[in-house]
Amino acid sequence: MKIPNFGKDYGTKSIAPGTRVYGERIVKKGKDEYRIWDPYRSKIAAALRNNMKNFEVKPDSNILYLGAGNGTTVSHLSDIVTNGLIFAVEFSPRAMIDLYAVALERKNICPILGDAHKPDEYKDRMKECDILVQDVAQRYQVDILKKNAKLLKPGSWVYLSVKARSIDVTMLPKNVFKIVRAELEKDFTIYEQINLDPYEKDHAMFVLRT
Ligand SMILES: C[S@@+](CC[C@H](N)C(=O)[O-])C[C@H]1O[C@@H](n2cnc3c(N)ncnc32)[C@H](O)[C@@H]1O
Repeated sequence: MKIPNFGKDYGTKSIAPGTRVYGERIVKKGKDEYRIWDPYRSKIAAALRNNMKNFEVKPDSNILYLGAGNGTTVSHLSDIVTNGLIFAVEFSPRAMIDLYAVALERKNICPILGDAHKPDEYKDRMKECDILVQDVAQRYQVDILKKNAKLLKPGSWVYLSVKARSIDVTMLPKNVFKIVRAELEKDFTIYEQINLDPYEKDHAMFVLRT
């Protein structure tokens, strides 16, 4: 889906006008408010700025989001999925307090306090999804993805943010990404691999399909 742009920046039309989630800039167009999507705060925004071609989130998408944090990226996706839901999994109780506050203003966010390593513990609390976004910055990121991919419809799109240093601090990031790519190829079709520099150093976004 094409996201509106404001010069180089992307923005999402707010479903909760009058509110900000992370101090983001607001642009008003008539009665509508657009929230500028900060590429330094959101890896999806960084990937869009670095020319991601397959951004397939649509108004009726149902999203499983792993590593929801304080809800920064989730809030922009919530502006887009006006007829869908976001199941936002986060294991830090501190981050969950902020995420819950965001969800109070946005009825399409379902916060789940859970560990992305254990999808069996939350699978009954969600619908089948057609998009998965993962941003957990953990060593076993690919294992987490493989376990959760079972909760998706066939042909779902996956946006996997990989932080090289979480996997191996001693290896060059490009070599970490090579290993991750080879592992992903066994189970997914890889559409894009986007370097997130300069917004996120040593991170890549893999765009995949189940
Ligand atoms: C980089 S931050 C997420 C930022 C967020 N995605 C955003 O763009 O707004 C990574 C988050 O993943 C969470 N996390 C790490 N491992 C997790 C796991 N196994 N299950 C659930 N959440 C996890 C951390 O607590 C942290 O909040």
